[in-house]
Amino acid sequence: MTTVKDLSHYLADDQLSKQQILDLITLAIAIKKTPENYSQALAGKSVAMIFEKPSLRTHVSFDIGINKLGGHALYLGQQNGKLGERERVSDYAKNLSCYADAIVARVFENNSIEQLAQHGSVPVINALCDLYHPCQALADFVTLAENFSDLEKVKLAYVGDANNVSNSLMLMASILGVDFTLVCPEGFGPDLNIANKAIAFGKVSGAKLLLTHDITELGSQDAIYTDTWISMGDEDPAKKSAILATFSPYQVNHKLMAKAGASIVMHCQPAHLEEEITTKLFDSEMSVAFQSAENRMWAQNAVLVTLLGNE
Ligand code: NVA
Repeated sequence: MTTVKDLSHYLADDQLSKQQILDLITLAIAIKKTPENYSQALAGKSVAMIFEKPSLRTHVSFDIGINKLGGHALYLGQQNGKLGERERVSDYAKNLSCYADAIVARVFENNSIEQLAQHGSVPVINALCDLYHPCQALADFVTLAENFSDLEKVKLAYVGDANNVSNSLMLMASILGVDFTLVCPEGFGPDLNIANKAIAFGKVSGAKLLLTHDITELGSQDAIYTDTWISMGDEDPAKKSAILATFSPYQVNHKLMAKAGASIVMHCQPAHLEEEITTKLFDSEMSVAFQSAENRMWAQNAVLVTLLGNE
C-alpha cells in the first residue's frame, strides 16, 4: 500500500515535495481502482468542512468521498458569515479541533487557511483560497497520469487568467518536472512571488517554464487548460465587458488546440461557455473535464487517508 511521508496539512502546492505529490497520485489511483480496500480508512473520524464561497464539485466530492472512506463529513456553509467576523479564525480553529478530526476549508483569503492550521490541532486541507487550489491540481495531475504514459514528458499549458488554479498547476508542474506554459493577457499574469517560486522549483526539477502574454508563443502542447476569466470574489459587473474584450483572443477553442497539437483540454469547472472555452470544445472527446471532476474525489481521498487514515 502506498504511503505518503511527513504530511501534516494540505495547504499549498509549494509545501509538497515531488515524492509526496507522486505518492499522492499513486495512492489516488489505487483508491480509485479498489475503493473497497479503503472503506474503513476514516471509520470513527469526522471532518468539518467550512465553505465561505459557493461550491458544487468540492462540496460533493469531499462529502461523498469521506462517506466512501467510512467517515463523517459536516458542512458548515455561509450562515456563519466570513471567517473571522463573528469570532476570530483562531477561535474557530480551536473550537472545531475539539470535535473534528480534520478541517477542510474553502476561504476568501489564504491567511484564513494559514490561521486554521496554526491555531487548530487537527490537519487542515485547503479546498480553494485566493492563491491556491491544491486539491484541483492534484486531481488534474491524476488525470494527466491516466492520459499520458510518462507524466514528466507531458507539456501542459494554461491559457487565460492567472489565478488560484493556474498557481497550483504551475507550482505542481514545476515541482514534478512537467513543462508548463502560462499565457495570460497583460495585467492578468501571476503573482510574482508564486512565479518566482515556480521558477526556483523548475531549476531543481528540470521543468521548463514559459510565462507570456503572447498567445502566438503557445508552441506545441499535449494538454491545454483554462478556467474562468473572473474568479469568485473578483466579480465586478462594471468591469465585465472590458474583461471579456481583453480576454477574447485567449479563448480556448478547436483552432487553438489544433495550432498547439494538443490532444486534451482541461477545465476545473464551472465552465463559462463561449467565454474561456467554446461549448463545442468543452463537449468534445478532447475534454477531460469530467474525468478530472471525478478524480477530485479520489485525489482528496488520498489526501484524507494520508492525513488521518486509520493504520
Ligand atoms: N478560479 C476559480 C476556480 C473555481 C473552482 C475561482 O476561484 O472562482
